[in-house]
Amino acid sequence: MAEQFQYGDIFSANSIEASPGSVRHSKYDFAVAYPDPDTLPLNDLIDAVKSGFEREGKDLAYYSSPSGDPELRKLVAEKLSLERNMTVTADDMVLTSGSGEAIGIVIQALTDPGDVVLVEEFVYLGTLNQMRRYGADCVGIKCDDDGIIPEDLDSVITEQKAKGKKVKYLYTIPAFQNPMGWTMSLERRKQVLGITGKHGIPVFEDDCYADLRFSGENVTSFHSLDDTGRVIYVGSFSKIIAPGMRMGYLVAPKEVIARAWSFKSGGAVSQFTALTIAEFMKGNIDRHIEEQNESLIAKRDAMVAALGENFGSTVSWTVPDGGLYIWVKFPEGTDMATVQEDIFQDGVSYYNGSQFSASGEGSNYVRLCFGHPPVETIREGIAEFAKILDRRKVFPR
Ligand SMILES: Cc1ncc(COP(=O)(O)O)c(C=O)c1O
Repeated sequence: MAEQFQYGDIFSANSIEASPGSVRHSKYDFAVAYPDPDTLPLNDLIDAVKSGFEREGKDLAYYSSPSGDPELRKLVAEKLSLERNMTVTADDMVLTSGSGEAIGIVIQALTDPGDVVLVEEFVYLGTLNQMRRYGADCVGIKCDDDGIIPEDLDSVITEQKAKGKKVKYLYTIPAFQNPMGWTMSLERRKQVLGITGKHGIPVFEDDCYADLRFSGENVTSFHSLDDTGRVIYVGSFSKIIAPGMRMGYLVAPKEVIARAWSFKSGGAVSQFTALTIAEFMKGNIDRHIEEQNESLIAKRDAMVAALGENFGSTVSWTVPDGGLYIWVKFPEGTDMATVQEDIFQDGVSYYNGSQFSASGEGSNYVRLCFGHPPVETIREGIAEFAKILDRRKVFPR
């Protein structure tokens, strides 16, 4: 074999070795954040492709607008105005490859190594990983059932400033938080805006679960409560259509978009996907979200009932009003991190709390996602989970 070229000397100083990771599934998979495959609107999407392409297919010969399909941006802006009370137009928005890309480019635009970035005490690990990748010093803020605790937010900011640290922004998932499941109350949102405003810190709102409401009153977005341009907003079609569509969006003041834009690679999002989603949005999206939520309610209820039947009183869990997750608390000192791989091999997967924590604490918590498996599999899987934990004597009953 010919001697292989060595890249070692020419890699940029910024590059790190990273792996895309592998997607592994156990028999009972409660780890992954997938929606319900049985309610994917496949026939409607096929119709949407057909009618969209008959009308506008020839436009695929062009590169689309750098911010992404103007029609889809307009439809998203209308949805956000109507449902999230946002004053927003197509021009305030960039379509991205899932909200993951939007989050990544905002982090790059705002974060220098060593900057303090505030997050909820347990938070979506994809964002946490991206923040760490760009050298952020992530600091968790304590939360309760209503969301971020204002007093803790204020004292953490004051403390960090006293240490001479630059606190760059607060990232929050205020609706059906991942992984804790709560929705931040209106009162709390106002308090959080007040405190961050006092300290001159922007709020980075990740609203990707807002449509997955099963019960309770809609709470307006952070974005709608601010008229000073201090809230940066991202959303996604991953949780309401499918993650495989890879379509999300960023809404931000023009100067933020311009900076974030400099980190966007590969140009605009796929016009094929944009056209399909735009066409789908025109007729079917509300009905689809309703159907999907009905299925998710049955799954949430099945998981809650199975936890009640199989776990003793030393374990507690949330019953979320929406979203995809149940957050389970085991007795203090239980280590659900060390046994995670063994339990995966036994057939049940979950993520443990320390994976969502900026400080690596919380291994007595687990996040269970009820979105993907059918109801019967949820029932069996939770019973199996309890048996495995007993067999392995993971916590005292
Ligand atoms: C809170 C949150 N934000 C963003 C994402 C990324 O989603 P996507 O890039 O598929 O839009 C996820 C995925 O699970 C999430 O939970």
